[in-house]
Amino acid sequence: MSERKLFVTTALPYANGHFHIGHIMEYIQADIWVRFQRMQGHAVNFVGADDTHGAPIMIAAEKAGQTPQQFVAGIAAGRQQYLDGFHISFDNWHSTDGPENHELARQIYRDLRDRADGSLIETKTIEQFFDPEKNMFLPDRYIKGECPKCHALDQYGDNCEVCGSVYAPTDLINPFSALSGARPELKHSEHFFFKLSDPRCVEFLQRWTQDGKLQPEVANKIKEWFSVRTNPDGTQSEGLGDWDISRDAPYFGIEIPDAPGKYFYVWLDAPVGYLASLKNLLDKRGESYDAYMADPALEQYHFIGKDIVTFHTLFWPAMLHFSGRKTPDNVFVHGFLTVNNGEKMSKSRGTGLDPLKYLRLGMNAEWLRYYLAAKLSARNEDIDFNAEDFMLRVNSDLIGKYVNIASRAAGFLTKRFDGKLTHDFGAPGAALLADVRGAGDAIAHLYDAREYSKATREIMLLADKVNAYVDQNKPWDLAKNPDNNTALHQVCSVLINCFATLTRYLAPVLPGLASAVQGFVGMDMRRWSVAGDVQAIAPYQHLMQRVAPEQLEALFEPPAQADTAPAATETAAAPGGEALAPTITIDDFSKIDLRIALIVNCEPVEGSTKLLRLTLDVGEGRTRNVFSGIASAYTPEDLVGKHTVMVANLAPRKMKFGISEGMVLAASHGDDKAHPGLYVLEPLPGAQPGMRVR
Ligand code: 2FM
Ligand code: ZN
Repeated sequence: MSERKLFVTTALPYANGHFHIGHIMEYIQADIWVRFQRMQGHAVNFVGADDTHGAPIMIAAEKAGQTPQQFVAGIAAGRQQYLDGFHISFDNWHSTDGPENHELARQIYRDLRDRADGSLIETKTIEQFFDPEKNMFLPDRYIKGECPKCHALDQYGDNCEVCGSVYAPTDLINPFSALSGARPELKHSEHFFFKLSDPRCVEFLQRWTQDGKLQPEVANKIKEWFSVRTNPDGTQSEGLGDWDISRDAPYFGIEIPDAPGKYFYVWLDAPVGYLASLKNLLDKRGESYDAYMADPALEQYHFIGKDIVTFHTLFWPAMLHFSGRKTPDNVFVHGFLTVNNGEKMSKSRGTGLDPLKYLRLGMNAEWLRYYLAAKLSARNEDIDFNAEDFMLRVNSDLIGKYVNIASRAAGFLTKRFDGKLTHDFGAPGAALLADVRGAGDAIAHLYDAREYSKATREIMLLADKVNAYVDQNKPWDLAKNPDNNTALHQVCSVLINCFATLTRYLAPVLPGLASAVQGFVGMDMRRWSVAGDVQAIAPYQHLMQRVAPEQLEALFEPPAQADTAPAATETAAAPGGEALAPTITIDDFSKIDLRIALIVNCEPVEGSTKLLRLTLDVGEGRTRNVFSGIASAYTPEDLVGKHTVMVANLAPRKMKFGISEGMVLAASHGDDKAHPGLYVLEPLPGAQPGMRVR
């Protein structure tokens, strides 16, 4: 087949949390496919990005005391360690808040609006809850109240978690804003809609979703949406409904052209982020995005989870098609990952298996890649990570059946034949090798169809055959008698050639191991099929450790104090109980003038149980008055005469008890209720008042 041109994406994760194992599973699934296609010589652009917009991120940023831009930059800074750690070979990682996305989303919108055969955008005035204190319209999930059906208190605006009924937020009894507690008011607002109910859209989508490209279980589910849909108030209507694509300011998003104060709903610009990340990549390479997209040979694929099928099979293809753009060639839907038969890896909680903890425990990322490959099929079905099964598959199959082939043959070749291989394999050896090499096309077909579980099973069946050949020929017995040298050389050479071929078959799953084997056998492991035999090997070096039960125990060990300590997933990402602040430059840091201060005097503050009044000498020929909230941890006697560190250029603050001229530094846990304790910083001996801390 001639070279294919592929554009591949994974779903863009919300930039309000670190990756959890569900993200990593999707990236591994896509990465295996991408690496396989690259091995076939196809040209792939594989991109991801952070999904940055929307009310939840805006609100989370505000809570963290940051702008949304700072907030999402902080999340973005944490991405690479996961991607590198699990060998995810994205060609680019970008952001839906980048200029490319603003421009593309606005242009797509204009193209939909200005269609010559009639606009697909219309405005309608809708009534919505408004928070008078926060001065913003409230998304349904930020409205709470009493369920109109079962009268349970504190239920969300769109459904009751107690009785399960679905309703409109306006049906709630005694509604209140989850942001401010205020009673929301109903207000009118003009919203923009994408007319999905337009016959042009319906006709196109029926064709696009039912032409046989989608997974059958996905296509069947979609069929239902063309006949009935559930309205916000729980009633049902016929056919596709129009899609509300606008939100009112304040909103972190992309402004709608010619509509000041109106923003695209995050789900409109999120998938455009696929194109934006691709454009950003091509721009960096000096290639033309327009030319790339205009090539009729280009194939476009999106890997996604089953929870976001509507967005990717209705809204997204319709947006693309009716704005005159190329539509995806396919959308590959996977199920959820559960852990140890546990709950689904929820997007927000991601409990169970913390990917960063996995890496920090020194567990091999390729164990997980192999294990997931051994479970994944092309079907949209859930899979379970089971610790025992994981250990068995890695230790018995991957290492016991495959890796050991190399170690069983390499020693003899190095010691007895100077590492050189023979090309005379003997009849049974040649037949075995032909068998192993002959399976390449069938295995390739399975990878291409995303049937990884079947592919790994085929590969392990081949490994079984190779091991049967070892058992029949017993190289360790042959080695005992020099008369058998030729046979020993043959057997070991057959084994290494089989091993090299199996390594190529596993290379999409185990890229790190394949590159180590490339050094060992001196042959290219980045191509699916390579003519010729292995000539010689380098001395064998251990290729892969076994999984130890203690590692799995540690991985799933609950945090030390189950009810107070943060969940394991938080621990790695949140040292001391809070996530690291966004990265700053040295210039940012140097704006803070930290000085050594001598605590000349300290006294309680009348009327305050929290504060101590400190008199500090910072070497300025005068003293400073500083109030510090450390009375819970220290008495004045503990502190007088000690040195500490203070922020010396903080603007003076007027407090109830007087002016505070700086701040002393103290350490505490992010959750000081669960982890009380406050520790004022003290320099090592020798530091003098006024010395700068840098
Ligand atoms: O469900 C999610 O996590 C979304 N952030 C996925 C967006 S995929 C694409 F449209 F950007
Ligand atoms: Zn209820």
